[in-house]
Amino acid sequence: MVAGDGIGIEVVEQGLAVLDAALAGTGTTVSPTPFDLGAQRWHRTGETLTDEDLASIRTHDAILLGAIGDPSVPSGVLERGLLLKLRFALDHYVNLRPGKLYQGVKSPLAEPGEIDFVVVREGTEGPYVGNGGAIRVGTPHEVANEVSVNTAFGVERVVRDAFARAQARPRKHLTLVHKHNVLVHAGHLWRRTVEAVNADFPDVTTDYLHVDAATIFLTTNPSRFDVIVTDNLFGDILTDQAAAITGGIGLAASANINPDRTAPSMFEPVHGSAPDIAGQGKADPTATVLSVAMLLDHLGLTDESRRVEAAVAADLAERGTRVRSTAEVGAELADRVRG
Ligand code: IPM
Ligand code: MN
Repeated sequence: MVAGDGIGIEVVEQGLAVLDAALAGTGTTVSPTPFDLGAQRWHRTGETLTDEDLASIRTHDAILLGAIGDPSVPSGVLERGLLLKLRFALDHYVNLRPGKLYQGVKSPLAEPGEIDFVVVREGTEGPYVGNGGAIRVGTPHEVANEVSVNTAFGVERVVRDAFARAQARPRKHLTLVHKHNVLVHAGHLWRRTVEAVNADFPDVTTDYLHVDAATIFLTTNPSRFDVIVTDNLFGDILTDQAAAITGGIGLAASANINPDRTAPSMFEPVHGSAPDIAGQGKADPTATVLSVAMLLDHLGLTDESRRVEAAVAADLAERGTRVRSTAEVGAELADRVRG
């Protein structure tokens, strides 16, 4: 368990309480190990994530992460040195982010229709790998490069995972989002890979959207999406839009999955550490609780996962404009899970 910074600490506490409630009486117990990672550790020791931390994290079944980041730490230090390092080191190549509009939740779209899709965002490649550099920094002749790395191996494994997810859903539809009219090298690798893997999933229908067009459809007709597969950066951007149209990042859950199970997968709300409201008990723990549902599902605890999601769905259907503290929402969700 990595509570991290800011509201991460508050929401993870509630996530664990709901996890306990879901497992009560099942014979499965959870013993979370708190990892001291994030801004405070960095200020104290200068460390973000050591080899010892990683080795110890690897011995666990799953990771629940709150939020990482604080304005007192230079931008990029914790993002690259902690969060992305975890995703890369533990080979979280499937970054799964559902876009679901629950009953009772207000979308900013006038006519949202039914929204229920999932974004399979590649998690270990793309422009996130840090393959870049700059010369003549700070001069008028500065050149700054960020290279997007796309390997046949990396693209195929995430595309295969996305097809399998599409196959398991009623609509069996997969949309590839890229920008192959401009990013021709990577774009064509993605397009060819989707075409080739489709042969192994003949029931799945596919289509393709350039990322700019995808943002239009997410606003004008989000119901058209079932499973979206895309690269790391496009996926980052689209999933914030997905969160916005389904009630905001306070509700958006995510899972960083290692489908080969060679290392623990990691479950985290899409939102950040929100330093402006940290420590005030105002943060909504719902995104973390939905991430807990994804954690249970990943561990094969399907019934428990469904109960947690159902508790959230019932809470959202009834919450209206009621203002509750972080702990109140968590306690009510835990009560609903206990039944
Ligand atoms: C997210 C975040 C991270 C990302 C940042 C904090 C590195 O925006 O989880 O979506 O870009 O992946
Ligand atoms: Mn993001």
